Amino acid sequence: MTYPDVPFPGLPPEQEALFAAAAATYARYRPGLPDGAVHLLADILRDRSTPVLLDLGTGTGQVPLALRSAVPALAHIEAVDVSPQMLDQARDALVPVLGRCTLTLVHAVADVYAPLAPLPGEEVRAPDLVTCCRSYHWMDGPGVLAMADRVAAPDAAVAIMGDGSLWTHDADWTRALRELIQRYLGAERRAGTRRSYTEPRRSYEEDLADSAFNDVTEHLVPVTRTWAPQEVLGYLHTTSFAAPELFAERHQAFEDEALALLHAHAVDGCLVEEATFRVLLARRPEGAR
Ligand SMILES: C[S@@+](CC[C@H](N)C(=O)[O-])C[C@H]1O[C@@H](n2cnc3c(N)ncnc32)[C@H](O)[C@@H]1O
Repeated sequence: MTYPDVPFPGLPPEQEALFAAAAATYARYRPGLPDGAVHLLADILRDRSTPVLLDLGTGTGQVPLALRSAVPALAHIEAVDVSPQMLDQARDALVPVLGRCTLTLVHAVADVYAPLAPLPGEEVRAPDLVTCCRSYHWMDGPGVLAMADRVAAPDAAVAIMGDGSLWTHDADWTRALRELIQRYLGAERRAGTRRSYTEPRRSYEEDLADSAFNDVTEHLVPVTRTWAPQEVLGYLHTTSFAAPELFAERHQAFEDEALALLHAHAVDGCLVEEATFRVLLARRPEGAR
């Protein structure tokens, strides 16, 4: 089920267009969650009889997909995204694996999310785990945490997580690729066709410290990924710093140069990314649960 089907206050149209355009390639080229992170999240849900997951900025459903197989008892998934195209991809990925687990797709900006009122006789399914994977930086963070405090179960956990991008990764091949992008688009990191990237004003930890979920632990999961040059180009299509529309008519020229550069750096056809996937797990302090 998807709701609502009426317009709601959302992101600037330009940002929504960015996610809409990336939805199909995103499903194909974005890496999933590393096993270490999946185990960490699964452990939170394991002892609950009918665990409920609320995933904010679900994209193509990577988080619910991973937890559906890691937590067989998962009873309900509430997947929220501002992009209907992303929600379509999430539906296609999740429906075949749902089994007895139920799914609601919610087209909403995360901070204004509210669950549907239960029908008479139906129980409220407060989330046991609220996740933001590679999505919190797009959102009104304090608003999201206040919303989580309104809707989540008393002993729920909030997980804010993600890894860097190939823009921030520090290896010879990613540095060379970044320099090539900068040659085409200028030195500043782009964030869509109209904006430059700006660092968040506050850290996630500062947002959490000021929220109800101020009992926080950090978990770092090392990940080694190997990319084929063509996969890197596919990945770039999904980013806000090298999406095709940023290059306009020079996109083909950029891709030709990028492919040559990536092949030159590849060893046995592969490019290696040593990344760290960071999970901030946050709970309400003991006395407040
Ligand atoms: C980089 S993707 C991450 C998708 C997924 N969580 C993953 O890890 O693969 C960010 C997602 O957040 C969504 N998004 C951005 N701002 C949002 C907001 N304010 N509320 C809800 N979703 C939002 C985008 O549409 C996009 O699907």
